[in-house]
Parts: sequence; structure tokens; C-alpha cells
Amino acid sequence: MTTAYLNGEFLPLQEARISPLDRGFLFGDGIYEVVPSYGGRMVGFSQHFARMEKGLAMVEIAPSLTEQDTRDICQHLIDSNRETLGENIGVYLHVSRGADTRRFHAYPEGVQPTVFAFAFALTAPVNADRTIHAGAKVAITQDLRWQRCHIKSTALLGNVMHFQQGYREGNAETILFNGDGQITEASSSNVFIVKDGEVLTPPLDNQLLPGITRMLVLACLQKAGIPHRESWFSVDDLNNADEVWLTSSGKEILPVVQVGDKTIADGKVGPVWEQAFTLYSKLKFEL
Ligand code: PDD
Repeated sequence: MTTAYLNGEFLPLQEARISPLDRGFLFGDGIYEVVPSYGGRMVGFSQHFARMEKGLAMVEIAPSLTEQDTRDICQHLIDSNRETLGENIGVYLHVSRGADTRRFHAYPEGVQPTVFAFAFALTAPVNADRTIHAGAKVAITQDLRWQRCHIKSTALLGNVMHFQQGYREGNAETILFNGDGQITEASSSNVFIVKDGEVLTPPLDNQLLPGITRMLVLACLQKAGIPHRESWFSVDDLNNADEVWLTSSGKEILPVVQVGDKTIADGKVGPVWEQAFTLYSKLKFEL
């Protein structure tokens, strides 16, 4: 049994209870984060907190916790669950608008946000060795979600449907493209390609989440002097790339070797991934 956090209290996860009138439950009216940690140390905590604060402001939920309080809660969940969950732990942190007395679309006045967090086991980081990584197979489809993908909303049904679409056919993820045939992101990760030694990832706008791992990877590429650019690219560019990667707090940098029916380059994990992931593994706690 793991320890969770709900509205000011640490308690066994199975004992955590919220009202069925919580707007997170009824409307998906909330903002969330997933913060990864390895050996008790979090990756990108302040960046995750900053994104959460921005998201809460965008949906007009007043934040009830300071950065230090939030850091302490996450660290406590990691420390107290380490024996049960092991060394690689993700913290799911969720703030909903709270429980109203009725189901009514307008934002209610005077309602306390619900703050919920729990810890879960992450898969162990892989070695940054392309000769032993088989690479992932992913699906690709048109992005049919909403126009506010930059908000890390708990309303994830659009993402869930896209993920399931790929998953049911044995894929690790589903990459998404917009009406203009440009790659936006994947159902729960950001997308990078490598072409002729240059790393590309779509620029930030309302069509994709400003991923923290994406940001940290860009910082690593900058430090290492690996050529990179935030730029739109097409499905064709993806299919003809030398390498394709997905990034997220759970996946770190996942190399992809097959997209739908298309094998990427020679179907093997590439050298730029190995270089970038070696650096990321070294620097991730310091960025
Ligand atoms: N997903 N894009 C989407 C749609 C995501 O849901 C995520 C993360 C990312 C990557 O963001 P980050 O690097 O900050 O984790 C991009 C989380 C992990 C999830 O929903 O479980």
C-alpha cells in the first residue's frame, strides 16, 4: 500500500476520498503534473511547478500551495514510498477546481480547490547504448483533440482515445499531425526528429504541451553544441528522418524505429539519440 496526499493530509492511497461533485470528476476541470524522480531526486521540479502555476492561472484556479509546500509534499511521497515502489518514482500531482454543491458549468465562487498527489513506480532508465536498445514502434494519426493542448488539463479523453488507438495494435504511442499535415506531438509525449545531424522539434503553441523533458533536452543539446531548431515538420519529414524520438517525464528520451508501416532509416536506434541521452542522463538533475 502506498501513501498519498489529499487536501493537507498524507494517507494510504486506498483511503483517499473525494466528492462525486468534485469538478475534476464531473468536468475534468483541473490541472496536473507528473514529476519523475530517480534515487530520491526529482527531475525539473521547479519547471513542473512553474508550468502548473501557469496552467492554474489560465483556467482561473487560485493556487493553494507555495512552491516549497509542493516540493515538500512531492519529496515526502517519494521518501515514504521508496521502500514499496523502489528507486524510480513518479509523482502525480493534481489540482481540481474543487467540489461544488451542484453540477453547473460556470466556475463556482468560494470553493476550495482539491489537491491530490500520489506516487507510482516508473520504469527504470535504460542505458544510453544504442546497440542494446531495440527502439519503439508507434502509430500515427490526425490530431483530433481540442485547440488548447498547451494547458495540462486533467480532461484527457482526447489523448486517451489517441493513445488507445495505437496501443490496441501493439504500439508504444500514437504520434499526431494537424490538418496541415504537420506533426504536433504524441498522445502523451513530445516529438523530435533528427535529419542530417540536426535535431528538430515543433515550436510551442496551442497545439502541443510545453513538455518539461522537451525543454531539458533542448537545454542539453544547446550545452553540447548539437545543432537543433524548433521548427514545424511534416509527416513526410518524419517518415524520412534519420531518427525519431519521443520525450516525456515517464519515457525520458524514447527512440522510435517504426511509425505505422514505415521503418525509420535502417530500423536501428541512432547515434544522435545515444549522444543526447548520455548527456540528459548526466545533467537531468541539474537543469
Ligand atoms: N504526459 N505531451 C503530452 C500530451 C503529454 O501528456 C506529456 C506528458 C508530454 C510530455 O511532457 P513532460 O515532458 O513534461 O512529461 C507531452 C504525462 C507524463 C502524463 O500524462 O502521464
